[in-house]
Amino acid sequence: MNAVTAAPPYGQVLRLDELLRVARVHDDDVDHVLFLATHQSCEILFAVVLRHLEEVRAALDAGDADRAERRAVPLPRLMATLTAQFDGLATLTPAAFEDIRTTLGDASGFQSVQWREIEFLCGLRDSRYLTTAGFSERDRARLEGRLGERSVAEAYREFVATCADRGAAERVRLALLAFDEAAALWRARHAVLAERFLGTAVGTAGSEGAGYLWRAALRRAVPEAWTPLS
Ligand code: HEM
Repeated sequence: MNAVTAAPPYGQVLRLDELLRVARVHDDDVDHVLFLATHQSCEILFAVVLRHLEEVRAALDAGDADRAERRAVPLPRLMATLTAQFDGLATLTPAAFEDIRTTLGDASGFQSVQWREIEFLCGLRDSRYLTTAGFSERDRARLEGRLGERSVAEAYREFVATCADRGAAERVRLALLAFDEAAALWRARHAVLAERFLGTAVGTAGSEGAGYLWRAALRRAVPEAWTPLS
């Protein structure tokens, strides 16, 4: 009789022991738990966004419109989930936020390498971010790697120029537009949250704070996707 190999249970599939050991859910102060664990869950979603963008780029380069659309479709949903994370943080009291801010020092989401990777991979490439304070050599190497890679915007541009099926090209454009729109909403929600807690005060990374984020909200990751195809 063949031995039946039992499928690993839920906890093992998700590596929950490891995940929850490193999750910032053990701090004494539950406001800190909310703040830190929210950032961690956002970083997991950033990683998922990156994987999808890489797949979109590969599909565009292969001239496969259906695959590019299929891989782009989850992106606005992922961004909307990220946007909703800010609603949880908005429930912090001003005193709790001040306490967190004091313990943060210079640490800021500004130092999120994955967010910068998302921007670079899309085509928004500002090499000044390579010198962001707090980045390790490894962080910088990852970002330099992204700078040398083909961007989603470049792949989209060439795909549109060569795709004979204009209906399919338009579907891909709309999928990328939906992603970029959702990313803009994430940025705007972020700016509102920063304004709520910081007013006109500077951010922990030393930027202008909400003013910086409002200006960043005008960035578009794939600007060509906003123009209807002729
Ligand atoms: C109460 C919550 C939050 C506040 C008040 C806040 C505030 C800020 C501010 C003021 C900046 C500008 C840089 C600086 O001077 O620090 C910034 C940048 C950033 N934050 Fe947040 N943030 C919050 C939550 C989050 C969360 C949950 C994430 C998710 C990972 C996040 C990710 C980022 C990213 C990626 C940047 C860089 C944005 C860019 O350069 O376009 N932030 N944040």
